Amino acid sequence: MSAVGGKVCVVTGAASGIGRALALGLARRGARVALSDVDEAGLAATAQQVGGDVHTQRLDVSDRDAVVAYATTVAEHFGVVHQVYNNAGIAFSRSVLESEFEDWERVLGINLWGVIHGTKAFLPHLVASGDGHVINISSLNGILAQPEMSHYCASKFAVRGFTESLRMEALAAGHRLGVTVVHPGGIKTAIADNAFARAKELGLPVTEADERRRRYYNDKLLKMDAGQAAETIIAGVEANKGRVMVGNDAKALDGLVRLVPSRYPGLVVRGLKRLGPR
Ligand SMILES: NC(=O)c1ccc[n+]([C@@H]2O[C@H](COP(=O)([O-])OP(=O)(O)OC[C@H]3O[C@@H](n4cnc5c(N)ncnc54)[C@H](O)[C@@H]3O)[C@@H](O)[C@H]2O)c1
Repeated sequence: MSAVGGKVCVVTGAASGIGRALALGLARRGARVALSDVDEAGLAATAQQVGGDVHTQRLDVSDRDAVVAYATTVAEHFGVVHQVYNNAGIAFSRSVLESEFEDWERVLGINLWGVIHGTKAFLPHLVASGDGHVINISSLNGILAQPEMSHYCASKFAVRGFTESLRMEALAAGHRLGVTVVHPGGIKTAIADNAFARAKELGLPVTEADERRRRYYNDKLLKMDAGQAAETIIAGVEANKGRVMVGNDAKALDGLVRLVPSRYPGLVVRGLKRLGPR
């Protein structure tokens, strides 16, 4: 179960970073891929790199009706759908005190509702395939919280709970359906730059502290190559793992949270201070 060659695989957020690397890794193994993103230029570049017969479509994963219609389109195009990688996501950084309610709505709309939309819309097709797999991209921040990231952490902790519930349901029902939640640590992608650019586009106040945070993420935290991350994720899917940790940082900090669940917030704050000015 869950081998990738010959499968029809859907990847959201495929215009950049981990999504693009997943598309390339899946296609290399002989999968047929359906790729989507809100960034049409980036999506076209991914499709060109993948080469061959690639299905692409602009899709905003926070738009429920669009995702439901998209699942039908993909199923009709390929005749079957085996795997869905709910990968599209955004970062956002601001303290709870400084945030507006709309900030949580925007982040949860993409990071959590996007995952729920993609899972629910494709699930009947995956079950019908007789060899389906749902892969939801959470984060290290679905296990370990960080200051000034309540929006992101709330979305990613929720993705983990949602996905683990689904895995239990699939096991209880005896479906031939794999369900995997993925927790990447720092992966070298445009996620921090994109968050910074999006905040500017939205007209949100962007401060020198935000610029420092962007540099800090790019220079110190986002280390692993996206291609390597995609390889780890696909290997986890092929092994039908329930949980895939990506990177030594994710594994070590997961261990920290298990070891000292109520003391780790203080340790994280001290650790972040030690890493330098943000
Ligand atoms: N890079 C990391 O260190 C890291 C760590 C943990 C988890 N993740 C998660 O991995 C996933 C991919 O992130 P990445 O690092 O490749 O970032 P990225 O910014 O390089 O790629 C994210 C892609 O999602 C797309 N996207 C954004 N909003 C969308 C929407 N509403 N509908 C459809 N597509 C949308 C963007 O256009 C972009 O192409 C995200 O869910 C992210 O939270 C990343």
